[in-house]
Amino acid sequence: MRKQWVLGNWKMNGSSQSNRHLIDGLLAGLDGQNSSGIGVCTPSVYLSQVGERLIGSPIALGAQDVSEHSEGAYTGEVSAAMVADCGCGLALVGHSERRTLHGETSELVARKFRQALSNRLMPVLCVGETLEQREDGVTYKVIAEQLDAVFDCCDANELALSVIAYEPVWAIGTGKTASTEQAQEVHEFIRKRLAEKSQLLAEKVPVLYGGSVKPDNAKELFSMPDIDGGLIGGASLDAESFLAIYNSTEVIG
Ligand code: 13P
Repeated sequence: MRKQWVLGNWKMNGSSQSNRHLIDGLLAGLDGQNSSGIGVCTPSVYLSQVGERLIGSPIALGAQDVSEHSEGAYTGEVSAAMVADCGCGLALVGHSERRTLHGETSELVARKFRQALSNRLMPVLCVGETLEQREDGVTYKVIAEQLDAVFDCCDANELALSVIAYEPVWAIGTGKTASTEQAQEVHEFIRKRLAEKSQLLAEKVPVLYGGSVKPDNAKELFSMPDIDGGLIGGASLDAESFLAIYNSTEVIG
């Protein structure tokens, strides 16, 4: 059975005060019944603050990005070792906002993925096509290229420590969710690519969906056979909405 995950990506939102409020709301609302993983990816300047409040809680701390370098003269960059030192257990790499707004290539994302692994962080590899690419019929080609850059530089044992998040760019922050069928089709494709590397990998690696997931569409999305939870942007900034989405995962325990 694959582990399900619901991860919040706060993006560039928050303040010390609002973070405290949000985390307190999450901790108060967790009822201990859900065995799925839950985590929040905060802006790097708040990792220590949020990390301290999460000590002893089931909520994992995540970074939104890590540098491709391990240390040195890279002004403004934050290394995987630094975020691990602040208490992170996971890190997003290759979010579409990094790929499109900051020109990150799949090769660069693969180097970041390796940095995360080397520092014992669970890398969450984000992949997804733009609207133009979907309309041009190259969705699978784009996803395959984004996956292969990472798959080609890691062995199956390393990939088994990761999570993949499919986030169609046209569904991010737009209120347009991919239909459950559209999402499932791409998740199935990702699962097949994993199986080409190793069947065990396909069975083990969680593939999350992201893009306008809300409390009212989460359950349907998460009920699809190859969707193992979600990567949540806007709705993760509100404790009640985020918990409602988290509680839409299958309760195993
Ligand atoms: P929204 O949930 O706001 O669409 O954002 C999704 C996302 O980009 C999460 O990484």
